[in-house]
Amino acid sequence: MTNNEKVGIYPGSFDPITLGHLDIIRRSSGLFDTLIIAVLNNREKNSLFSTDERVKMIQSVTADIKNVVVKSFDGLTVDFAKAEGAHTLVRGLRAISDFEYELQMAQTNRTMSPEIDTIFLTTDQRYAYLSSSIVREVASFGGKIEHFLPDEVVPLVRAKYK
Ligand code: PNS
Repeated sequence: MTNNEKVGIYPGSFDPITLGHLDIIRRSSGLFDTLIIAVLNNREKNSLFSTDERVKMIQSVTADIKNVVVKSFDGLTVDFAKAEGAHTLVRGLRAISDFEYELQMAQTNRTMSPEIDTIFLTTDQRYAYLSSSIVREVASFGGKIEHFLPDEVVPLVRAKYK
């Protein structure tokens, strides 16, 4: 990466990636030369999909966005951002209920690494209610998940609850 290349990082669990995430990816990809989707390798969390599965899923649904790269990381997001030459973290904000946690994370990250800023994109109203955990819950009861997920992801989530 050259020094003046603008690299953004969109970190998250993406378990699984939803249409809300994809909307944030599409919109924020226009703000950077390269947008890295950083999938947390959350070992202690009981995730539905393995890190590899989540990376592959996101690669598949973002294949048409040329400046998006998908990687996984361990440890602190700011350390990963530094290692990748990124100075901006991207997060989506759905409702006021997200704000406290997001502010806490952004301020913690900024205290640790003042050279890295967090920017927030407000979630499209169509997806304001949506979260990966809600999707997992609906899927676990055999509910309809087509409204929430990219088409390729629907059968993968269904298969987990067969
Ligand atoms: O999709 P999520 O689960 O809301 O994403 C949360 C994530 C991955 C951005 C956050 O947990 C994170 O950055 N984890 C890595 C560890 C870290 O850097 N912690 C300090 C920030 S409080």
